[in-house]
Amino acid sequence: MNEQDFIPTEYTTMVTSGVATWKAPSNIALVKYWGKFSDQIPANPSISFTLSHAATTTSIAYERKEKRNGGLSFDLLFEGKPKEEFRPKISTFFQRISQYLPFLQEFHLKIDTSNTFPHSSGIASSASGMAALALCLMDMEKRMMPSMKSDFFLKKASFLARLGSGSACRSIGGPIVEWGKHHDLTDSSDLVGLPYQGKVHEVFQGFQDTILLVHKGEKTVSSTAGHALMNNHPFAKERFAQAHKNLSRILSIFETGDLEEFIEIVESEALTLHAMMMTSVPYFVLMKPQTLSIIEKIWTYRKLSGVPLCFTLDAGANVHLLYPQKDSNKVLQFIKNELVVYCENGQYICDQVGGGSEKV
Ligand code: PMV
Repeated sequence: MNEQDFIPTEYTTMVTSGVATWKAPSNIALVKYWGKFSDQIPANPSISFTLSHAATTTSIAYERKEKRNGGLSFDLLFEGKPKEEFRPKISTFFQRISQYLPFLQEFHLKIDTSNTFPHSSGIASSASGMAALALCLMDMEKRMMPSMKSDFFLKKASFLARLGSGSACRSIGGPIVEWGKHHDLTDSSDLVGLPYQGKVHEVFQGFQDTILLVHKGEKTVSSTAGHALMNNHPFAKERFAQAHKNLSRILSIFETGDLEEFIEIVESEALTLHAMMMTSVPYFVLMKPQTLSIIEKIWTYRKLSGVPLCFTLDAGANVHLLYPQKDSNKVLQFIKNELVVYCENGQYICDQVGGGSEKV
């Protein structure tokens, strides 16, 4: 697979107008992607759980323009209202993908997007948002090429989503998605996220992710800036090698269902991600004091109760609690009793592993 495979040759059907609506979920990485080369090529492979409830629904109403004026034209609504702040990111995205979707310039698009999770909750909406947008654009392209196979449709959606936000390429399929070349994964690619095809132990079915909203404000350092700091990072080489090793280990854990080992890798990956931020030049810290308090509480709870509960972190202060479905009642009680105090306005989101995007 290479970039050329995603440049269409000829559209066979004339389309003048229509509406495409897709819902794409968020995802949480177990082995983290941090560091990239140009064109959103990841510096190391990653693997994630696709979530079920935290999602973006996007609708594009499209109409062929009378004159092909060579420019991109679109209106952007967020939850039904114009959202100018999002325009630059979408414009850049459209420019990046226009060679792969040459029809883009011929249409006026009215994009309306909404999230199931509260706006500015500190949950990154770029993964689900870019994935939903890419799927709507592929929906348009499929109408112009009705013979397109569904496997190609999903691969190209992931390819396009990646160009919007790297981790978005892991928000098309589910329940586990790999992205980036890795020697244990045949067909793995830096260009697209692919649903993991290996054996997965039943303990991971319906695995829970409860997201504790510790800090809902804007991040002090964007993920784009964070990735860039891996370029001259003193520990980059070791980190990328470690991600490859952790990915190999997690694949065998998926098969055996060994939660002790799962916890060790997942928590180490989360802390390593933040350690990379704390040791870059310039350095920065995205965790808050509450993040650390939650981590300590989790460690004590796990030791005393024996419940295989662990945490992971994104590029932010919020904490994702991962645990088997059968332990839900106990963990939710623990959250209410001991962790809610650390959440901004007592807010948390209950989610679980899900099957991937859906046409609405
Ligand atoms: O997709 P980006 O460029 O916002 O990068 C996000 C990277 C992490 O969320 C920190 C890790 C990951 O693999 O999702």
